[in-house]
Amino acid sequence: MNPNRKFDFNAAQALFLTNIGQLLTLQSASGKPGPRRGSDLKELGIIKNAAVLCLGGKIVSVGPTSDALRDPWLKKNRKKVTEIDCSNKVVLPGFIDSHTHPVFVSPRLVDFEKRIEGASYEEIAVAGGGIRSSVESVRKAGKRLLVEKVLTVLRDMAGQGTTTVEAKSGYGLTVESELKSLEAICEASARWPGTVVATLLAAHVVPKEFQGREQKYVEIVCKEMIPQAAKRKLAQFVDVFCDKGAFTAAETEHIFEAAVQHGLCVRAHVCQLAETVLQPFLRFNPASFDHMDHVNDDDILILAKHDAVATLVPGANYFLGLKQYPQARKLIDAGVPMALATDYNPGTSPTLSMPMAMSLACTHMKMSPAEAIAAATINGAWALRVANRKGSIEPGKDADLAVFAVEDYREIPYWFGANRCSMAVMNGTATYPQ
Ligand code: NIG
Ligand code: FE
Repeated sequence: MNPNRKFDFNAAQALFLTNIGQLLTLQSASGKPGPRRGSDLKELGIIKNAAVLCLGGKIVSVGPTSDALRDPWLKKNRKKVTEIDCSNKVVLPGFIDSHTHPVFVSPRLVDFEKRIEGASYEEIAVAGGGIRSSVESVRKAGKRLLVEKVLTVLRDMAGQGTTTVEAKSGYGLTVESELKSLEAICEASARWPGTVVATLLAAHVVPKEFQGREQKYVEIVCKEMIPQAAKRKLAQFVDVFCDKGAFTAAETEHIFEAAVQHGLCVRAHVCQLAETVLQPFLRFNPASFDHMDHVNDDDILILAKHDAVATLVPGANYFLGLKQYPQARKLIDAGVPMALATDYNPGTSPTLSMPMAMSLACTHMKMSPAEAIAAATINGAWALRVANRKGSIEPGKDADLAVFAVEDYREIPYWFGANRCSMAVMNGTATYPQ
């Protein structure tokens, strides 16, 4: 144990977790820089019978419980520290859900029923359902309602072990409603102890009133929405749904140019419905390419040499009732860094559970439980460019932890549909599922 002796700590923020059965530190033994790839994705850095000390929202020491109890600093300050006996449970870094769309008002139950009757996602969209059908209610909604919607989801996510969330706008599709959506994300984030990374997804779909005038809408995204979101620091990322029926590759490049010009980083929804060639986007240094169901083999070889993370969202495949899932094995074996996320949204993936996404990754994409955990933690951190402070349990990083009432980490994706999370620590604040 070696906490900074000069640290002027607040007892409320001093947490000492002891008797952890398996502590998954996610520290890398290989020491290779960048996101995990290939066989390094399985490295969980497990310490048995472990303890973690957190002060002031940061992790200060990690190691066996017996070492922690011998530490002179801890012996002296033990009474001032909130001690949590983990009774042999599993502790891991809080999940990083690096792809979510939480700013919407209502579930899309008609789409759900139509799909059960056999209609596809694209057929439903063409017939007036899909993304566009979530837009009117967001445009009409007051910001306060949207803040409450987002906050409720963030709290539910923490209840399942998620401590960092990427949250996109994308159901407003006017300057005013997209900025209102981002403001709602920022205000909800300020009332939640975890960490939120906001993304402007104004290029989610061309709104009805711009059909046939797509270029005009793209201009508004580039010349009004991106500059205003950047100036007001409402978003860190710009995302584009670049796919059949959404935005073209040329439009995506145009939007990325505007994003980079205004100091924002980029990420994209790609290859969900049809193949998109990804190589031309690499000049924008994207943080992630998400979905990746129809990625081509040449791009796989290229991505293996880059740090852009392939973020797979099997919840969408599951909920759309698809037989095919993204080829996680092929990506991992080729050396492409990959992450897992929920893609929480009302159309394709109304789940906020990272353990569910991990379970699907194991059963339908043949990832091992260890790979699924690394993809949901450290590689999610890389996908959001926060790996310097999140995604693993090591001194100096943010105190973001999830405690699961299981004896073996493999039980996390195994008990699908049940929530075994018993506590989440977010920036040093402990919360418990409702
Ligand atoms: O990631 N593909 C684009 N966006 C979402 C779906 C949004 C919706 O249907 O409302 C996705 O699957
Ligand atoms: Fe999405």
